[in-house]
Amino acid sequence: MDLYNAIKNRRSHRFYKPEPVPRAVLERIVEAALWAPSGTNQQPWDLTILTGQPRDEFVTIASQAIEALEPRLRQLFDEQRVALVSQFFKNLGGAPVVIAVTVWKDPDPFGQEAHIQSGAALMQNLLLAAEAEGLGTCWMTGIKSREKELLAYLGLPDRHLLAITPVGYSAKTPPVVPRKERPVRWLGF
Ligand SMILES: Cc1cc2nc3c(=O)[nH]c(=O)nc-3n(C[C@H](O)[C@H](O)[C@H](O)COP(=O)(O)O)c2cc1C
Repeated sequence: MDLYNAIKNRRSHRFYKPEPVPRAVLERIVEAALWAPSGTNQQPWDLTILTGQPRDEFVTIASQAIEALEPRLRQLFDEQRVALVSQFFKNLGGAPVVIAVTVWKDPDPFGQEAHIQSGAALMQNLLLAAEAEGLGTCWMTGIKSREKELLAYLGLPDRHLLAITPVGYSAKTPPVVPRKERPVRWLGF
């Protein structure tokens, strides 16, 4: 798939088919993710790919994050959107695979920012590669209020949980969320 098409067609998917994702396909998107740039090439990340029972146990913990998130959602969205997101959190839309991206912690704030930016680059590679494979994803940080419990489950208590994404074949075409007027400035042209 053309890169520009992957960028433009990628959406956040919140409904998935139960159909499993072949391991070889997951291997390809993980490989693409790992070719992301990173600050001073530290590659400060870990990817955990969960399916089956570990996926279910992880999602049970992640779903508890909706309690802390709901008041904020109510401030931002209408009732229908709040209901949609709450429903999505319960079982991550039924996606058969969940990927957790964790990055190292750094006591130096500049170092920490570089790790987070590096992890975000990896995350976007992952989402675009999944799009190219015909898979749906949804970048999620709304689970952060359960970070400690999720990291404990992953056996990575000293990491920073960057984000998670469900991965699977989409069961429902998501809406195209419009972009704002371009906040872009061109200087010296
Ligand atoms: C850093 C980040 C965190 C996000 N966290 C969540 C989340 O917790 N739950 C969710 O349903 N969507 C989450 N999203 C998805 C956004 O809602 C989505 O990207 C945005 O509405 C634009 O829609 P699109 O991805 O379909 O273009 C997140 C996206 C980003 C980049």
